[in-house]
Amino acid sequence: MDIDTLLERYPKTVDLKGTRVVLRPLQPTDVKGFHAFFCGVPETERMFLKHRVTDIEVIRQWCTTIDYGRNLPLLAMQGKRVVADATLHQQFGGWRRHIGRISVVTHPDFRGRGLGRLLVEELIHIAQHLRLERVEAEFIGNQVAARKLFARFGFDELLVLPGYVKDMQAIDHDYVLMGRKITTDEEFTSAAG
Ligand SMILES: CC(C)(COP(=O)(O)OP(=O)(O)OC[C@H]1O[C@@H](n2cnc3c(N)ncnc32)[C@H](O)[C@@H]1OP(=O)(O)O)[C@@H](O)C(=O)NCCC(=O)NCCS
Repeated sequence: MDIDTLLERYPKTVDLKGTRVVLRPLQPTDVKGFHAFFCGVPETERMFLKHRVTDIEVIRQWCTTIDYGRNLPLLAMQGKRVVADATLHQQFGGWRRHIGRISVVTHPDFRGRGLGRLLVEELIHIAQHLRLERVEAEFIGNQVAARKLFARFGFDELLVLPGYVKDMQAIDHDYVLMGRKITTDEEFTSAAG
């Protein structure tokens, strides 16, 4: 299935433990809202993100060069407020072309309501129907909640490299790669008979 067809399921409204959110892909008009979202993530966690997300120019660049086939940021919105983001990253060609990478961040005010789980589930569904064969997620050090969340979806620890990466303050942390195989579209169809 192609990405445009898969994205027809959005916007999607979901009720979660006292909150109603709308899931939809990032749009060019999200610069301010997406930037405000990242500014609300504690600095101790932002250090684990790969990009300088408090720089609005970084966010502007993401919003003006949207290519869902390469990076699909799926946002959870409460009204006009971005409250969570999970992104499916893909590489075209090369020896990682069959692997999708998932990253997820929930605003601290909205944690523990199932948002992280919901977004990861959506992206696994999309990855399966894009015929990716594997999904993975990367972690630095002790991201306990996140590792537990992915473990619930069957992600195993594939690699642990002690003290391998440095955060923005040049402090060493372990690098952890988790991943799992996913069933392809065709396998779904044949299993359904
Ligand atoms: C990881 C994260 C996305 C979870 O978001 P969330 O919206 O709170 O997730 P959910 O409410 O769906 O909880 C999912 C699971 O996470 C785990 N979890 C959530 N909060 C936790 C906590 N404080 N401590 C330990 N585990 C926790 C639980 O296993 C929970 O499942 P449960 O329903 O059985 O309790 C969020 O904590 C976050 O944004 N962390 C910082 C960014 C990060 O580490 N991202 C991962 C890099 S890919």
